[in-house]
Amino acid sequence: MRFKLERAPPAVRASVARDVDQMEAMISSVLAFMRDELSGSVREIADLRSILECVVDDAGEAAELEPGASIPVQVDLLAIQGVFENLVNNAIKYGRRARVSLFLDGADVVVEVADEGPGLPSEELTEVFKPFYRGSDARTSGAPGVGLGLAVSRSVLRSHGGDLDLISAEQGLIARARLPGVAAVMRAA
Ligand SMILES: Nc1ncnc2c1ncn2[C@@H]1O[C@H](COP(=O)(O)OP(=O)(O)OP(=O)(O)O)[C@@H](O)[C@H]1O
Ligand SMILES: [Mg+2]
Repeated sequence: MRFKLERAPPAVRASVARDVDQMEAMISSVLAFMRDELSGSVREIADLRSILECVVDDAGEAAELEPGASIPVQVDLLAIQGVFENLVNNAIKYGRRARVSLFLDGADVVVEVADEGPGLPSEELTEVFKPFYRGSDARTSGAPGVGLGLAVSRSVLRSHGGDLDLISAEQGLIARARLPGVAAVMRAA
């Protein structure tokens, strides 16, 4: 909408821009609400590798999971599954393929989803986390989406004590999701 607004007459622009501001504020508070709700939601111990296997299987030929050991996490299962569905779908949608790897980094569990696409310019690496923000390629390519996947995914991971970042790789983009390992979750409880 902001993009289309640039070409609208000034009077329309001002009033619609206010609506868009309001909409953004609204969705931000919904996300904050969701974060609070989720931090109180039921957490089960699950094997993150099995969760990723399901997501990668559902995504079809264009997705693969690098082999390795099982790693337990304590999570809201459906919410965390949604996070990886979005990251794998993004990699396929904007970067042709999703290569998923899972490893330990100290007390954290890290999942990387790498693709083979054009990546994103550095100034967009933080912008794309804003609700409803879609890159210009995504808008013009006709790829379906509303621009909420990354905002919601980051919220879900943060509500678990983790986080989500995008990193430019030599070829394509890497989405790096971090979750505290089960031992760290137990200590914090
Ligand atoms: N792997 C990627 N490579 C290049 N650009 C990406 C990648 N992942 C996300 N983006 C950019 O970030 C934007 C926001 O992604 P996000 O997942 O939040 O929304 P979306 O995929 O457009 O819609 P949806 O709400 O269905 O997820 C995308 O529109 C795209 O421009
Ligand atoms: Mg998406």
